[in-house]
Order: sequence, then C-alpha cells, then structure tokens
Amino acid sequence: MPSETLTITDNRTGKTYEIPIADGTVRAIDLRQIKTSPADFGLMPYDPAFMNTAACRSRVTYIDGDAGVLEYRGYPIDQLAENASFLETAYLVFYGELPTREQLAEWTSSIAAQVAVPESVKRVIAAFPRNAHPMGMFIAAIAALSTEYPEAKRIGDRGTRLRQVFRLMAQVPCVAAFIYRHLHGLPIVNPDPELSYSANFLHMLFAGSRAPSEALERALDVLFILHADHEQNCSTSTMRMVGSSHADPYSCLAAASAALYGPLHGGANEAVLVMLREIGSTDHIPAFIAKVKNGDGRLMGFGHRVYKNYDPRARIIKRTADEVFEVTGRNPLLDVAVALEKIALEDEYFIKRKLYPNVDFYSGIIYEALGFPSEMFTVLFAIGRTIGWLAQWEEMLGDSEQKIGRPRQIYMGPPRRNFIPMADR
Ligand code: CMC
Repeated sequence: MPSETLTITDNRTGKTYEIPIADGTVRAIDLRQIKTSPADFGLMPYDPAFMNTAACRSRVTYIDGDAGVLEYRGYPIDQLAENASFLETAYLVFYGELPTREQLAEWTSSIAAQVAVPESVKRVIAAFPRNAHPMGMFIAAIAALSTEYPEAKRIGDRGTRLRQVFRLMAQVPCVAAFIYRHLHGLPIVNPDPELSYSANFLHMLFAGSRAPSEALERALDVLFILHADHEQNCSTSTMRMVGSSHADPYSCLAAASAALYGPLHGGANEAVLVMLREIGSTDHIPAFIAKVKNGDGRLMGFGHRVYKNYDPRARIIKRTADEVFEVTGRNPLLDVAVALEKIALEDEYFIKRKLYPNVDFYSGIIYEALGFPSEMFTVLFAIGRTIGWLAQWEEMLGDSEQKIGRPRQIYMGPPRRNFIPMADR
C-alpha cells in the first residue's frame, strides 16, 4: 500500500477500506470493492459534466485556473505568443519539445507537401447552399477527407498516423478558405507553399482583393497559437472519446469540431459578436447586464469551467487587438466590449461567481477587423485547435491505461414490465 491513502468507512456496513492516493487522485475503480453484499455492483462516483474527474494523464497542456496560468509543454503561453510562430508552437504541442531550425524546416515542408485537397472534398464544399453555416460545412468536409485516405484507419502505425497529422495540418486551413470562397461566390485560390502558415491562409481567402500585411499575418499566427490546445475541454475530450473506439483521425476531428461548434464552447466567439451588435452602444450596457443577472441569457465570452481568474489568452488577445487596429482602423464594437468588461468586473454577480473574460470575448472583434464574417469565427478556432486535438489523440493512443471510453449511468427508468399490444395501450 502506498504511503498516501484514503480511509473510507461505509456507514451502511461499518466496513473500512484503505484506498491509495496517487497524484492527488483516487481511482474510481477502487471504489467498486465497497459493497453492501456480494451481489451488490459496488460503489461508483457520480460526476455529471465531469466537474471533478480526471480522465487521463497528459503531458501536453497545464492550466492553473485559479492563478490564470496556461502552459504548453511547460512553456508559458505569453512567451510563446511573443516569440514563436504558429508552426513552431504546433511542433512543440505535438512532439513535446521546441524544434531546432532543421526540425522546424522538415515539419514545415512535410505539412506543405500535403496541401492538395482532394477534388471530391472540394465538391462536397461546393454542394452546400451559399447561406449554409461554415461550421456545418467544415465538419462535413473534414469527415469527407476520411473517405479519400482509407489508410488512416491503420491507427496502430506511427508513420501512418504522422502522415494524417501532416495532411490535417495542411488541409484544414485550405478547407476553411475554400468554404469562405464558396459562401462568397468566389473561385478557389490555391495554396502557396512558399508563404507562412497564416500568410498562406490569408492568401487563399483574400488574394486579389487585399494586399498582404505582415502585422495582420502575425496577429492571426498569435490567435492560432492561443487556440492550439486547452487540455481536456469538450471538443478535446470528444476527440479522445471517438479516437478511443479506434476511428480514423478525420472522423475524430469532425466529431471534435462538432463539439467545438456549440455556443458554450468555440461557438462563443460568434455569439459574442452577435451580443455586442445587439447591445449596440455603451448606454445599453446596464440594461443588458440587468437582463443577464435576471437569468435572461448569458454574458457570452465570460466565465469558464477551469479559469476562475482572467483567462491569460484574453489578456494577450486584447493587446493584439491594438496592433490589428493600427492597420485596419478601430472596430467600434471594441468600445462596447471594453465598457462591458469594466462594468461586469465591478458587478457583485460576476465577482461572486468568479466570471472573467475568456478567450472568445475579444477574439471575434479582431477576426471581424481582419475581414472575417462572424459565422467563420469558430472555423478559425478549429484551425488553431487542430494540432491540440491531434496531440491529445496521439497521446491517448500511446497510453497503455486507455481503453474505449465508456461512462456508467444510474438507471432511473421504469423497472422491467411486459410489452403491451397496440390495441391495449
Ligand atoms: N453569464 C452569466 N452568468 C454566467 C455565465 C455567463 N457567461 N457563465 C456562468 N454563469 C453563472 C451561471 O448562471 C451560474 O450561476 P448560478 O450559480 O447562480 O446558477 C454560475 O455562473 C456557474 O455557471 P455554470 O454554468 O455552472 O459554469 P460552467 O463551468 O458549467 O460553465 C461556461 C462554463 C463557459 C459554459 C459558462 O461560463 C458560459 O456559458 N459562458 C458563456 C459561453 C462562453 O463564453 N463560452 C466560451 C468558453 S472559453 C472558450 C472555449 O473553451 O470554448
């Protein structure tokens, strides 16, 4: 028995159990021995929404939600946002160490070599009506990629897995750009592998209509860095869960994207813009706050399951906004957002619940200044998050403790009863 243990007395039977504690956790399966009789199934923890359950050991991302700390592989997010490129950060997130110059060059060229999106997937995108939501199209296009790369099913082979990682890193931004072009009735612009990751993305979106800008490319790179991973959130847990059934990575990533789409997760950046437009001007803020406090809607872009302090990503985004506005001119919604944040942070309701701005509060304002319609915001989140999903998937597959994910339930339905013929109902 390890030195750190938990002693539990079952007051139903008077029996005492000693349960090992490791890394500040007890194993849920150790509770199963606690029974009232040999026929009893044994005790289970009940944790809807996983409020207090660790589902894996991970070495990718560290968050201290009370202190507002976020680190990828031990490196603070502000240092990465300040000094690294997105592809450098992506390498770190996936492989665990910062790349050397040679490693970065190889990683970059391995990704660049995979930019050719299959024609069938381009046709999937082209089949959607022009008013379709880009996230619905994105999920469909990513799932469609799996049909073009059936080798991806061989998830037990590291070389095959890596090839899909390069493909997804290369093709996710292409798919996103092609969706944008289709929705605007514009022809596809092919990728230019000579450009940086973010410059190439902006080129595929806006070539011909807008001059390239290093400041805007850097801002987008920083936004991708800030979104690269965020440990076991809803979409990453989905990636791991679907991956645990040994589905191919495209299907897993389509599922993770679907989880991201919801307004409580990555869809919040779009919802923030809708909210700011509805508020319209700073004089309408008090009435809006009063409505939220009455339980009528939420202040989108505020609150987080893990951060009970200012989200460090929101702080960096706010700084980046100023750099973007120097090029694009100020987005008037920023004044509404800044005033809204100030009023909320001084309000007892938000203070008591430790609700602070999260990553989505300011990101939409920058995306809008960069020329994206609000429906595209969650797709941009997905581009940055792709590497995090892949790193977590790779880690899950290499973890000998992981099996197919399968939670338990507490059955609350009717007890066994006999079928009633239609005529007797
Ligand atoms: N506005 C108003 N009240 C809120 C908000 C908000 N944005 N968020 C939480 N609350 C209240 C909630 O009503 C509850 O109050 P009470 O205790 O009186 O019932 C209390 O705060 C705790 O909320 P919860 O819903 O139990 O917290 P949670 O951990 O389940 O939810 C959250 C986390 C992010 C879903 C939630 O804060 C929220 O809905 N925020 C708005 C959507 C949003 O911005 N999402 C983006 C998250 S960050 C990016 C990402 O990872 O996707």
